[in-house]
Amino acid sequence: MEVKPLKYTELPGLSKRQLSEHHDVLYAGYVKKYNEIIEKIATTDLTTANGTYSEIRELFVEKNFALNAIKLHESYFDNMTDKPVQLEGTVKRLIEERWGSVEKWQDEFIALGISARGWVVLAFDYNLGTLENYIYDMHNQGGVADTELVLVMDVYEHAYFLDYATARKDYITKFMEVIDWNVVNKRVAHQNN
Ligand SMILES: [Fe+2]
Repeated sequence: MEVKPLKYTELPGLSKRQLSEHHDVLYAGYVKKYNEIIEKIATTDLTTANGTYSEIRELFVEKNFALNAIKLHESYFDNMTDKPVQLEGTVKRLIEERWGSVEKWQDEFIALGISARGWVVLAFDYNLGTLENYIYDMHNQGGVADTELVLVMDVYEHAYFLDYATARKDYITKFMEVIDWNVVNKRVAHQNN
């Protein structure tokens, strides 16, 4: 797996330093570790498998952690833009169908941003057939099966602390202003064809 580059170097509300520490150091670190784990799995002794402790168990637990970290971070970086995009199209319709109004969805999404320990995700749920807001307290804790990431917001302190210190709500407010709704619309497009 390879590190995907950022589409921008800075954003209104997120500095170059904040973004490069987050992307080039933290996210790139997950990619490096994922590759290391995959290499180790290839030579692991499967006969020592054990539910309390075994090498294969630990490798697969951490593989989930690293892979979700990569997927969530790539979605997050990709659903922000330095050129503001209006919320419209399919995703607007699906939000209005599910929450009644964009404002109601946004209020819940922002409240979850304050409540989550890691991530807030707007996802398309294939069983329910609707968009849903979910929280992940860690990369590998909180995901719901059979759902697809549509809009991802990182609320770990590392995502904003250099720019905002403890003012998470200010970071969230800025995040809401730099969402690339074109990207979000592309992610939901195929579910409604
Ligand atoms: Fe992050």
